Amino acid sequence: MTDDAYEDSSIDATARVVDPGGTDDERRFEAALRPKRLADFPGQPRVSSQLALVLEAARRRGAPPDHVLLSGPPGLGKTSLAMIIAAELEQPIRITSGPAIQHAGDLAAILSSLAEGEVLFLDEIHRMARPAEEMLYLAMEDFRVDIIVGKGPGATAIPLQLPPFTVVGATTRAGLLPAPLRDRFGFTGHLDYYSGADLATILHRNAALLDVESTPDGISEIASRSRGTPRIANRLLRRVRDYAQVHGTGVVDLDAARTALALFDVDVSGLDRLDRGVLEALCKRFAGGPVGLTTLAIAVGEEPDTVETVVEPYLVREGYLIRTPRGRAASDKAWEHLGLAPPEPTAPTSAGTPTLPFGSDEGRFG
Ligand SMILES: Nc1ncnc2c1ncn2[C@@H]1O[C@H](COP(=O)(O)OP(=O)(O)OP(=O)(O)O)[C@@H](O)[C@H]1O
Ligand SMILES: [Mg+2]
Repeated sequence: MTDDAYEDSSIDATARVVDPGGTDDERRFEAALRPKRLADFPGQPRVSSQLALVLEAARRRGAPPDHVLLSGPPGLGKTSLAMIIAAELEQPIRITSGPAIQHAGDLAAILSSLAEGEVLFLDEIHRMARPAEEMLYLAMEDFRVDIIVGKGPGATAIPLQLPPFTVVGATTRAGLLPAPLRDRFGFTGHLDYYSGADLATILHRNAALLDVESTPDGISEIASRSRGTPRIANRLLRRVRDYAQVHGTGVVDLDAARTALALFDVDVSGLDRLDRGVLEALCKRFAGGPVGLTTLAIAVGEEPDTVETVVEPYLVREGYLIRTPRGRAASDKAWEHLGLAPPEPTAPTSAGTPTLPFGSDEGRFG
């Protein structure tokens, strides 16, 4: 994903199969379906109860809460939660993103205009320029920013006191945040993939909001094929609705869900074309691995970053892919899923190869 692509926000990493490009329509749809309050936010029970506590305590103290960092794969609700935080605090939210802050001056301008208690949402915070990052530490800790006036030896720093405010940072790559910045966040919420039941709750509510009739088995079929991701669930719901309206009874039922999802290349386990592409490359071209991330990404024609943040976490979590010190390897489950016979036991995919937790950047070999 390039900075340009980010800035017009039409490129969405999870949009890669069913709805390439993430259209205007998509953004309108997302905005309309975003839960507004914590109580309407299903799933993520741990993060949501922790956050409820942090916010309630702040409310009782009558002071802004600690800064909050939200991390996790795309489409799990980081932006939604940032907006919910502001709504719960009844404060305005200022939204910007790491790639939009290329100079410390960009950040200084934003910081110096913040009102007391305001929420500053910094999306993709790991992509902020280094000098801006340093300015942010100081602002987060001491509510102070040094405005540099002039250039060269005559430049002077004029300290500016800021009213207390709350930074909400979001990142798909917490491991890339420098430790001093990470440490400035009093609360970090790690979002994890959603259970099928939580996705079904979300889909049920959204079908009603979209005025689409649905059956429980239709909804649970979509939920079970959504890669644990609400954004994907919402998108698949729309595709099944389309199918039901054009070819079916207009009802999102099991039949419509099965046929429409097959049409859009989402398999029974919810893996899409890119997921399967990665597994196929791994098994067919690299004999199951291990193979480096970059090599694997090239084989499927994707950026290593996309493979690492969008594709891999889910495949690792579901046990299709194993991270080893020597690279990525296919598990027996991957071979089985592709209907292929795994190589004989001497293969490097054998169990016992240590796996590394994704998300920790120590685990990156590439
Ligand atoms: N818990 C939830 N309940 C209902 N809808 C949700 C939930 N979490 C996310 N969504 C929906 O999923 C979509 C994506 O959510 P959101 O934009 O908050 O994800 P994100 O984590 O910020 O993704 P990215 O990393 O791509 O920015 C939105 O349409 C949102 O309404
Ligand atoms: Mg977001």
